[in-house]
Parts: sequence; structure tokens; C-alpha cells
Amino acid sequence: MSAVRYELIKKCGQTGARLGKVHTPHGSFDTPAFMPVGTQATVKGMSPEELKGINAQIILSNTYHLYMRPGEDIVKEAGGLHSFMNWNRPILTDSGGFQVFSLSDLRDIKEEGVTFKSHIDGSKHFITPEKAIEIQNDLGADIIMAFDECIPYPCEFEYAKKSLERTTRWAKRCKEAHKNTEKQALFGIVQGGIYKELREQSAKELLELDFPGYAIGGLSVGEPAQDMYDMLECTVPLLPEDKPRYLMGVGSPDYLIEGALRGIDMFDCVLPTRIGRNGTVLTSQGKMIIRDAKYARDFTPMDPECDCYACQNFSRAYIRHLLKAGEVLGIRLTTWHNLRFLLKLMENVRKAIMDDRLQDFRNEFFEAFG
Ligand code: GUN
Ligand code: ZN
Repeated sequence: MSAVRYELIKKCGQTGARLGKVHTPHGSFDTPAFMPVGTQATVKGMSPEELKGINAQIILSNTYHLYMRPGEDIVKEAGGLHSFMNWNRPILTDSGGFQVFSLSDLRDIKEEGVTFKSHIDGSKHFITPEKAIEIQNDLGADIIMAFDECIPYPCEFEYAKKSLERTTRWAKRCKEAHKNTEKQALFGIVQGGIYKELREQSAKELLELDFPGYAIGGLSVGEPAQDMYDMLECTVPLLPEDKPRYLMGVGSPDYLIEGALRGIDMFDCVLPTRIGRNGTVLTSQGKMIIRDAKYARDFTPMDPECDCYACQNFSRAYIRHLLKAGEVLGIRLTTWHNLRFLLKLMENVRKAIMDDRLQDFRNEFFEAFG
């Protein structure tokens, strides 16, 4: 038995979207789901209670960061990530495959694994697929990810092919190394750049390994939106109907809706928390740069349609002032709001699937959001 089970509740009568539930050892989450990112075992600025208050049902954390600091041995000694950070709902950890390529210096990729230098102290490390699984076993998340290579965009066909074939061999090694299958589900990651035939090859190879869930990686790395949609349209139909499908690193409102529309069940992205800290907020009328002088005397909420704590209690003028004064509460309120905005968007997406009207919902959303 796998640690996670996908329950299909309903397919949208208007699009390829599906409403479902993923059951894990730490409870269930509704899909399509957005997972807030807690890179360092914390969703920056938000307590676990506050996350529950905005209906975050699952969060993501990063193997690479926790391996560097504090070290997976300390997290294990604390009783695993759930007890270390006091979050008792589902957690997914990314394998470090992506972070090693995006954050560290001087990486050297070989068949055996990747050598890289830490972005924190410059120390040298060697991560293999086996090591990535061992670390994730110690961290103890409900869903763990295979160690993959996320190629940059653009990337030549020949390299993309060589890379995805190695990612398949690494996925096989991850599967062999993963012993804790009752408590943790290991997902495979489809790669292949923006080449349809490579995406198909990758999906087919990974399907033979029979993972309990599949991610689509290597997208939203700078390619045109249409390329991403094309990759989803050729990949998703190859994936099993009875398992969750996860589009990695995607979290702008348009990509979330377009992904759900094409049959994606799970998403994660630093976007809401990162832009919140820069003073940009997502609203039903589009993006708003709250630091702008034009909000200095605007005593209305960030988004009058939002039910979050920040919008229920504070004005644009006040939050702008906090941000300009460098006050901690300012970035907490923008983060709080942005996360609630995306979680609420997913609630609305799920409701629209239930009512067979996701295409209409999409059109209405973009009419207002721009
Ligand atoms: N996060 C965003 N994209 C990717 C990817 O391709 N691989 C992994 N492991 N994580 C990601
Ligand atoms: Zn709000």
C-alpha cells in the first residue's frame, strides 16, 4: 500500500479539470491544491495556526535547505519535520534536484550524482539519488520527490534528451533506495524541456517504474506560456487517472487556472510570499504595488473582496506605511493576504469544477484580474 491515495471526486464537464482529494498519513487535502512554500521549515512570516486559518491544507519544504541547515539529523531527532515545525497536516519535500541547479555554485553533474558548493558557506557536497532519499526519509514528509535534473530554458534537444534519460535512471535508483513506502509516497518527475516527444518519452519511462504520483518539472523556467500549456497537454493524458499530478514551481494566478484546466492537481510556488515581501499584492482587480505613493491616503482594504485578516482589519495606507518604515507587520500582512488570495482562488476553482463551469470561471477571473 502506498502512503497516499488519490480519490477522484468529479471531472469538470467543461474542461479537463478534476476535483479530488489526496489522503496522506497526516490527513487529506482537496485538489486542485496550492501548496505554500516553507523552504526553511517555515512559511516565511506565518505561524502554523495562521496557515490553518487561511485553509492551507498542505505545505512544501526543501531538502536542500534543511540538509544544509540545521541538518536532517537534527530534524530527525526532533521527531521529523511535522513535530520540528509543529505542523500536523501533510507536508511534501522537494528533492533538492531543482535547488542544487538553481542556487549552488560550481555544480558538476555525473551519472553517480551532483557535486556542488553550498550557497551558505561554500562547503563542498556530493548528492546522489540515494542520498536525496535518505535525507527525505529522515525529514519524514508525507510526499517526497525523486532526485532529478531541471534543465534551463532554452536547452538543446540533445542535452534535454540525455538529461531526461539520466533523470529516469536516477528515479529508478530513488525508488530502490526508498524503503519507508508505508509512511512516505515517492513521486517521479517528468522532464524533457519543451520537446513534446521528450516529455512523452520521460512520462512513459517513469510510468514503468509505477510511482504513486507524478510531477511535471522543468516548466515555468522562462519559456513562453504557450510552450508550457503545450507540454501539459501532451503529458497529462499519459499520466494515470488514479494518481495525483503535480506541476512544480507554478503559482501565478493564470498558470494555476490554466494548469487546473488541463488536469493538474497540485501546485507550489514562492510567488505569493516572495512578491508579498517586496510589497506587491494580488487582488481580484489585478496586481497592486502597495508601496506606491497613490495609496498614501487610501483607507480601503488591499482587496475589498478578500476575507483575510489583513483585509478585514487594515487599510492600504497603513500597510504601505508599515512597509516603508520597514516594520515586520507590513510583510506579514502582505504575505498573509497573498497566500489567502491563492488559497481562495483554488477554493473557487474547485467549486467551479463541481459546478461544471471552470472555463466560465476562468474567463470571469481574467476579465477582472487582467
Ligand atoms: N521545482 C520547480 N521545478 C522543479 C523541477 O523541475 N524539479 C524539482 N525537483 N523541483 C522543481
Ligand atoms: Zn486579504
